[in-house]
Amino acid sequence: MNSQRSRSVVVGFIAALILTNFCAIAAEPNEKQPDRSFSSKGADTCLKCHDEDNAYPVLPIFKTRHGNRVDPRSPMAQLQCETCHGPVGDHQIAVKEGEKKAPIRAFGTKAWTPVAEQNGVCLSCHSDLHRMNWAGGPHEKENMACASCHVIHARQDPMRDSVAQVEKCMSCHINQRAEFNRTSAHPIRYGKMRCTDCHNPHGTMTDKLVNSTSKNDLCYTCHTEKRGPLLWTHAPVAEDCTLCHSPHGSLHPALLKKQPPLLCQSCHAASGHPSAAYTADGLPSGTPDRFLLGRSCLNCHSQVHGSNHPSGVKLLR
Ligand code: HEC
Ligand code: HEC
Ligand code: HEC
Ligand code: HEC
Ligand code: HEC
Ligand code: HEC
Ligand code: HEC
Ligand code: HEC
Ligand code: HEC
Ligand code: HEC
Repeated sequence: MNSQRSRSVVVGFIAALILTNFCAIAAEPNEKQPDRSFSSKGADTCLKCHDEDNAYPVLPIFKTRHGNRVDPRSPMAQLQCETCHGPVGDHQIAVKEGEKKAPIRAFGTKAWTPVAEQNGVCLSCHSDLHRMNWAGGPHEKENMACASCHVIHARQDPMRDSVAQVEKCMSCHINQRAEFNRTSAHPIRYGKMRCTDCHNPHGTMTDKLVNSTSKNDLCYTCHTEKRGPLLWTHAPVAEDCTLCHSPHGSLHPALLKKQPPLLCQSCHAASGHPSAAYTADGLPSGTPDRFLLGRSCLNCHSQVHGSNHPSGVKLLR
């Protein structure tokens, strides 16, 4: 599938190459070709027009890492504005009112420049480990531009700010907004956590953009005590925390998917002792005893995540 796609890209590229050569030969010698050259003065060329009066605030970039001329990796140490926006060409020529200005590469979902071209510019510097799985990831598949989340001409990129980041993610993921507003939830709404504590929006090797090798490894990074080692483990805990917990939020305490005993009974049937807390099945007295069962299994099986007690095999202590 992938190799087929790349093959067609190669074929397309060769076709485009032949076509452009052909057009160059066929073009009338005196027909004016659009100027595609870089400026000689770099940012100064642009700042003549895009100054502090510009409708879009361009200048804050100089307060960011992209505006750092000392860092040789930074665009401002290279072709400056044109590292990202491409060669200025005829765009630097002032036009009379009503006349159309020559275009220059623009960014964002509404920009005229194709998203793949835009993202290619960013990825030419940012194709490190963190974005290794961008291609084929869910956001790339949705044709999202890097600039639909990131703001380059701002003192601080909103993606670096917990509140602004969460707002942005939730503007599309409205179900998750609802989940985080439930009574028991990871403390996102107080600005104490961010989506990127658990997800890498750029793409991952794991399912659901979880930024760890597995769901459990993710949970262990903060809830380390649940990792163990334990003498007696509870099989589902070692397997997948989300068998019992909703990672975002829940209407039941402790982010549980169901309230015990229903939670426990979704896997455990009555065997040797009552697992249906509301019935008398298997109880010595033969009558329902709410006080004995306390309507929940955790009254006795308190070590639901596993036990380190020598006789904790039934997760009782
Ligand atoms: C002679 C003045 C002038 C110079 C020089 C100039 N621009 Fe512009 N630029 C404009 C104007 C005016 C617009 C708005 C054009 C429009 O709305 O069609 C614009 C629009 C843009 C846009 C938005 C383009 C789009 O299609 O949405 C970008 C990006 C841009 N300029 C970047 C640059 C960069 C980078 C440089 C320097 C390499 C530069 N400009 C140099 C006047 C200038
Ligand atoms: C010429 C190379 C280059 C290009 C092109 C480039 N960047 Fe960067 N970017 C950098 C460097 C260098 C840093 C600073 C990294 C560091 O300090 O480790 C950086 C930092 C960042 C950061 C972190 C900012 C922060 O405050 O920590 C973000 C986000 C970012 N770039 C996004 C983008 C996006 C989106 C694009 C495309 C529109 C882009 N970059 C294009 C070189 C580039
Ligand atoms: C869905 C929104 C979203 C999209 C799309 C997106 N990013 Fe990000 N990006 C983020 C968030 C959120 C962070 C902050 C992560 C953090 O602080 O832990 C980030 C961080 C970064 C950083 C700085 C930290 C680092 O990981 O090195 C760079 C660079 C970056 N993104 C580049 C890109 C590039 C390049 C693209 C396009 C291929 C892109 N991003 C697309 C949301 C996005
Ligand atoms: C790291 C890549 C990068 C560099 C370097 C950069 N820009 Fe931008 N520029 C962007 C992106 C991405 C946007 C889209 C909005 C945003 O992120 O702020 C943008 C938006 C703009 C706009 C608004 C266009 C519109 O759609 O209205 C102008 C004008 C502009 N840039 C001019 C400049 C000038 C002038 C410089 C040099 C001082 C410069 N840019 C340097 C990436 C860059
Ligand atoms: C412009 C809308 C938009 C924004 C903004 C956005 N996403 Fe998404 N996201 C999508 C779409 C569309 C999908 C793919 C469809 C789906 O599975 O929901 C997706 C997929 C995902 C998935 C994978 C879902 C799955 O089932 O595999 C996760 C996780 C995710 N996004 C997290 C985030 C985070 C974190 C942010 C903020 C940094 C964010 N998204 C910002 C639209 C968005
Ligand atoms: C405590 C970690 C954590 C935080 C914080 C978190 N997520 Fe998730 N998210 C997960 C896990 C784990 C899954 C996978 C659930 C599964 O596979 O059952 C997931 C799944 C998703 C999915 C796929 C659909 C679904 O619900 O299963 C989307 C979309 C998503 N998260 C978006 C977000 C957004 C947006 C934010 C921030 C507002 C966020 N997440 C914050 C851990 C987290
Ligand atoms: C980035 C750190 C982080 C990650 C990763 C994380 N958590 Fe949490 N978790 C927290 C914080 C912080 C709280 C809130 C603690 C508090 O309110 O005192 C919390 C609370 C909880 C609670 C509720 C505790 C209570 O008493 O209500 C449960 C259950 C929980 N997390 C399960 C998980 C699961 C399951 C995962 C993996 C999908 C996970 N956590 C991943 C930080 C994290
Ligand atoms: C078999 C179901 C089940 C599984 C699987 C499970 N939990 Fe729990 N978890 C519970 C129950 C039930 C509670 C409530 C305990 C209580 O009220 O004493 C709880 C409470 C918690 C709490 C809050 C109280 C405390 O003990 O700190 C955290 C944090 C937590 N779980 C994390 C995890 C993590 C991390 C995983 C995966 C390694 C996990 N859980 C797997 C059932 C489970
Ligand atoms: C997702 C399914 C699942 C859920 C939910 C679940 N368990 Fe388990 N439980 C298991 C499995 C699988 C074992 C291992 C059985 C074995 O080794 O024979 C186990 C083992 C046990 C044991 C030890 C049994 C023995 O013979 O050593 C106890 C006690 C137990 N669970 C109690 C609970 C309680 C209490 C709850 C609710 C908080 C619960 N379980 C929820 C799947 C589950
Ligand atoms: C009054 C205390 C108590 C309550 C409440 C309780 N259990 Fe038990 N459970 C025990 C004891 C004691 C054992 C150990 C029996 C043995 O070793 O023979 C046990 C054993 C088990 C076993 C191991 C299977 C077996 O036959 O050895 C499972 C599974 C189990 N309980 C699940 C549950 C579930 C699910 C609930 C809630 C519906 C629950 N228990 C409520 C005390 C209790």
